[in-house]
Amino acid sequence: MKKFVVVLAAGKGTRMKSKLYKVLHQVCGKPMVEHVVEAAEAINPDKIVTVVGNGADEVEKVLAGKSEFVLQEKQLGTGDAVLTAQTELADQVGATLVITGDTPLFTSQTFQNLFDYHQKKGNAATVLTAQAPNPYGYGRIIRDEQGNVLRIVEQKDGNTEELQVNEINTGVFCFDNQKLFAALKHVTNNNAQGEYYLTDVLEILRNHGEHVGAYKMPDFSESLGVNDRIALAQATKIMQKRINEEHMRNGVSFVDPATAYIDADVEIGCDTVIEANVVIKGKTVIGNDCLITTGSRIVDTKIGNHVTVTSSTLENATMADHTDIGPNSHLRPNAVICSGAHVGNFVEIKNATIGENSKVGHLTYVGDATLGKDVNVGCGTIFANYDGVQKDHTTVGDKSFIGSGATLVAPVNVADHAFVAADSTITKDVARYDMAIARGRQVNKPDYWHKLALSKSEDWQ
Ligand code: UD1
Ligand code: CA
Repeated sequence: MKKFVVVLAAGKGTRMKSKLYKVLHQVCGKPMVEHVVEAAEAINPDKIVTVVGNGADEVEKVLAGKSEFVLQEKQLGTGDAVLTAQTELADQVGATLVITGDTPLFTSQTFQNLFDYHQKKGNAATVLTAQAPNPYGYGRIIRDEQGNVLRIVEQKDGNTEELQVNEINTGVFCFDNQKLFAALKHVTNNNAQGEYYLTDVLEILRNHGEHVGAYKMPDFSESLGVNDRIALAQATKIMQKRINEEHMRNGVSFVDPATAYIDADVEIGCDTVIEANVVIKGKTVIGNDCLITTGSRIVDTKIGNHVTVTSSTLENATMADHTDIGPNSHLRPNAVICSGAHVGNFVEIKNATIGENSKVGHLTYVGDATLGKDVNVGCGTIFANYDGVQKDHTTVGDKSFIGSGATLVAPVNVADHAFVAADSTITKDVARYDMAIARGRQVNKPDYWHKLALSKSEDWQ
């Protein structure tokens, strides 16, 4: 049987109080609607159609290549939203899964279970339900004494007795595709919100003598609908736990998983240890046998095996195998630390390559530079890359030694096997085997102590 998916993502999300459209708010580094569409993709549907409206361009950009789109011009309700997908789906034969775009926690397994149950029962419509600890805000499932599903009642329309019900509509349904579109034509907006409710389709189908049913999922937490920032934080917490447990199953150790904030697409190798209070974001990939200590923030960075990151910030950078950094250092975009290299504390590196086994130990800025292998950069060195107008590049060859406190004024080249004396300001190239020294000569003033002491108290004599 053909499978289709409709994702509802046209609403503004007034309750979020945000400039950003609701379904684009992120949970663990990924927009909510992208979580939904990725979970739907995993059941291999023949077609995914996303209903867009508010922020249509942005939503389409996020889902490009993963979904087709239909535009709901006015947000008249979830029933009207599904009806806009008729141009893409109405004449198809098969089953259609409808999912709201603000429920980011559903797993593809749950969608598959719903689909299988729906098929087994031969229903025209099956709603995915859950037992909510606090059902406020959700549609309630109204059953008769035999347990048959009669209809769904929205929070704003329910009477006292109906609102006592804890079984809620998760916002996910499976429908016979053609019966869905036929029934949608009968939905009216005669309710408290003046909206065309998708939920009314159940009662309409039932009144037409069709089989409707419910598949109750065992765990409510997957169905959390995000309408405000409180639910967004709850969803993030649940997703975070899920992500970290998956890493643990794959052999990653967490000192305190509750305070390790790891985005959905991050990859981490086995026997890597993540300490407490660590943030790892975006497309970061971390290899095996690494240690990431407290206070590190790592964004879109590639880290090899046997790497130690001590309380440092890394963005769009690369650290090869057997390297280390920190504490309190900063790799900025396009910093490349080659294998065996050491970056110590209070070091900032931007758009620069630190060659194999080279050392940049302390309090140094390296910007726009290429360092060869086995280079030693002394404490407090500055790669002065900016003249106020443009940025220039510096190179330092293999096995060269840069003394402490040097300033290398770009563009400048220090050859391999060369020396730069401490505290030198280097503006001219340094040749192989040479030493450059560029600083004021030392002058000693004899007997200065006593000269100064004349004007001081007797204690100085
Ligand atoms: C909806 C359900 C409710 C269910 C809950 C689950 C209806 C009438 N109510 O309520 O029974 O318990 O979800 O989370 O279906 N949208 C559109 N176009 C519209 C209106 C909404 O695309 O015209 C989209 C929104 O972007 C959102 C989704 O549909 O992603 C759900 O809309 P929302 O307003 O959040 O519905 P709820 O009040 O949460
Ligand atoms: Ca909602």
